[in-house]
Amino acid sequence: MVPSACLRIRGAEQHRKSYIFLRKINAIYSEHSWYTVDRTTRKDDADMAFQYPHLEDVQRAAAALGVTIPLEEDLSALAQPLTIGAHTSANRLAIQPMEGCDGKADGSPDELTVRRYHRFAESGAGLIWGEATAVLPDARANPRQLMLTPQNVDAFKALVEQVKQRCLAKNGFEPVMIVQLTHSGRYSKPTGKPAPRVMYHCPPYEASAPLDDACLMSDEELDALPEAYAASARLAEQAGFDGVDIKACHRYLFSESLSAFTRPGRYGGSFDNRTRLLLGTVDAVRATISARTILTSRLNIYDGVEAPYGFGMAPDGSLTPDMTEPEQLVRMLHEQRGLSLIDFTIGNPYVNPHVNRPFDQGPYAPPEDPLVGVARMADCIGTVASAFPNLSVIASGLSYLRQWSPQFAAGMLAQKGVAMAGFGREAFAYPTFASDILHKGALDASKCCIACGKCTELMRMGSRAGCVVRDAAVYAPLYREGKEKMACQK
Ligand SMILES: Cc1cc2nc3c(=O)[nH]c(=O)nc-3n(C[C@H](O)[C@H](O)[C@H](O)COP(=O)(O)O)c2cc1C
Ligand code: SF4
Repeated sequence: MVPSACLRIRGAEQHRKSYIFLRKINAIYSEHSWYTVDRTTRKDDADMAFQYPHLEDVQRAAAALGVTIPLEEDLSALAQPLTIGAHTSANRLAIQPMEGCDGKADGSPDELTVRRYHRFAESGAGLIWGEATAVLPDARANPRQLMLTPQNVDAFKALVEQVKQRCLAKNGFEPVMIVQLTHSGRYSKPTGKPAPRVMYHCPPYEASAPLDDACLMSDEELDALPEAYAASARLAEQAGFDGVDIKACHRYLFSESLSAFTRPGRYGGSFDNRTRLLLGTVDAVRATISARTILTSRLNIYDGVEAPYGFGMAPDGSLTPDMTEPEQLVRMLHEQRGLSLIDFTIGNPYVNPHVNRPFDQGPYAPPEDPLVGVARMADCIGTVASAFPNLSVIASGLSYLRQWSPQFAAGMLAQKGVAMAGFGREAFAYPTFASDILHKGALDASKCCIACGKCTELMRMGSRAGCVVRDAAVYAPLYREGKEKMACQK
């Protein structure tokens, strides 16, 4: 029986079918090659599928699918400042962490990294959540992933200063800047080749590509991680970041630890054991950083893979979200450990990207209407956010709605109890998205992200990520080059 705390999302049947479809695909392609599927038969043209010229069209389409998307025409709430501990975000718009895979071999920002953050600085967003930054060399998801070290901390410091100054000059305020500390776990690729480190064997992910037992992280290896995060957090402070995120999302190591039901020992099985790694790291970081520095987490509250292999899942083995454990964890983070800001997200970008970032064009046709994915994200986030009125929650997954994402953002604030709206792909595509929302009251549809997935394809090809469509001068040549390389490899 499904517990009463379970979210009943209409469209769950559609999600179940989509999952079966994806499992079949997974049997054909290994988990590391999602984006090697030939796309030539897919429609590539912008906005073929997104035909909502009016806001009411979105509402009508959602209603026809049996889902609800919170939409609010009054955008004024997005312009309100938000106090986060000792810091203030000038408005309620955030840039979500977006990896560019464009750092130097030593982990410091390279030319394209700097260019991306300069654009983010000028966007008008009140908060910039820096991308995944590895805490150890083996924890990198690619050889160009950022990594803070004592040797390169000055390069990060220069970048943070530039971002603050540019934002101040352009927008009249300094943005709150957070860095996301990560261990890539199952998706580690420090030299460009998969080198997975996992909490446990996950049959739904490993059906077609079983992993060796050597990939399992030992308890002793996990015991050492809180200090590695604490060391990176101290460097982040030196670099001038206002906050530190202990990343626990998208099935990277800390996210996977939350679902380690089948792992024996101190880090698996019970709720206390599965949250030990995250909470122990939060405690270790808190003990070492100044009280001024924001301590936060980007947290998966729904994995979209059936129990006992997913966090936030109904125990009956269905794909129904169950927010009981996510709420319990957020209570421990917020009420016991004093976190005042948490960024919620769902899904796994490698296995169910349509859950993680709804799209309608990409390497495979999404097996559900993207509006169902948008509604699932909103419902999961809203359920947990509403339970903690004093916690500032950042919502994810807004970009699919393109020119209607500002109304979605305002709807999340007005109806779902969130404090800020975080934009991922839109921040790549539309460099002035936040100022346009705040000062023009609208986004220009011709500048919006079209949810085509090409930025992620760039990542999967081992290239540098950015918007191939709207920032084509820089990223279209990289995309073509990557495609040619892959064709040669085949
Ligand atoms: C190219 C790319 C890189 C990303 N890098 C990160 C990352 O470093 N850390 C993270 O937590 N999420 C990352 N994400 C996920 C986004 O932050 C965001 O959750 C997702 O794109 C859905 O939001 P959107 O609809 O606004 O794009 C990335 C997404 C993309 C497309
Ligand atoms: S940011 Fe650009 S490349 Fe990425 S999904 Fe949007 S339009 Fe496509």
